[in-house]
Amino acid sequence: MEFIKVKTYEELSQKAAQIILTQLEKKPNSVLGLATGSTPIGTYDELIKAYTDGKADFSKVRSVNLDEYCGVPETNDQSYRYFMNEHLFDKVNIDKANTNVPSGVAEDSQAECERYDKLIESLGGIDLQILGIGVNGHIGFNEPSDEFSEGTHVVTLDERTRNSNARFFEKMSDVPTKAITMGIGTIMSAEKILLLANGDAKKEIIEKAVYGEITPNVPASILQKHDNLTVIFSEN
Ligand code: GLP
Repeated sequence: MEFIKVKTYEELSQKAAQIILTQLEKKPNSVLGLATGSTPIGTYDELIKAYTDGKADFSKVRSVNLDEYCGVPETNDQSYRYFMNEHLFDKVNIDKANTNVPSGVAEDSQAECERYDKLIESLGGIDLQILGIGVNGHIGFNEPSDEFSEGTHVVTLDERTRNSNARFFEKMSDVPTKAITMGIGTIMSAEKILLLANGDAKKEIIEKAVYGEITPNVPASILQKHDNLTVIFSEN
């Protein structure tokens, strides 16, 4: 594991973007595992800047997102598909047909989970997975639990997660109670993982995840077992 500590969010974003750009130089049709949340926004901004400056090409990139809220259609501005379009896909030359986000409104959510796992498999797996971390140690929407999950599944969101994400919704009752998420097994099978966290609110949990006991109570702690993990933490 490489643990990079930086002072500012700008540095975190620049370093993370550099790792992604290096990956794309090595393999232009990389499968990127993408994350939402506020943490990677600066990284995506750096990628957009690189593209605008003619220094990045996303035309062959394939992407799979970690998760989506259940019951939120992609046209809703709180959906993770909407987030990805707004913060990255609409601003670079990625082919939208090559971007994937699990559907939170599939009639048969079990079938959607199976479809998503098969899709990731058919792409040959994930080359580089970007992750944020929840205040409770979740990755994707894999909440603290008694066991580490394997494939894509539907989860009931932890109250701490709903509280943290409430800032994006008008009222608490609008915050979804369920989500569909890629499983820990799939995340762990990515070739390379880049875990990002910033600010005081994440300091304790990132240290617990990276140096603490490996336990499904802190889902991100499993990442200690990955042999190509980079963690970037910024104080601010
Ligand atoms: C959501 C997402 C996670 C993300 C987390 C942290 O719960 N499902 O993938 O890591 O939020 O978000 P933030 O970066 O806004 O703190």
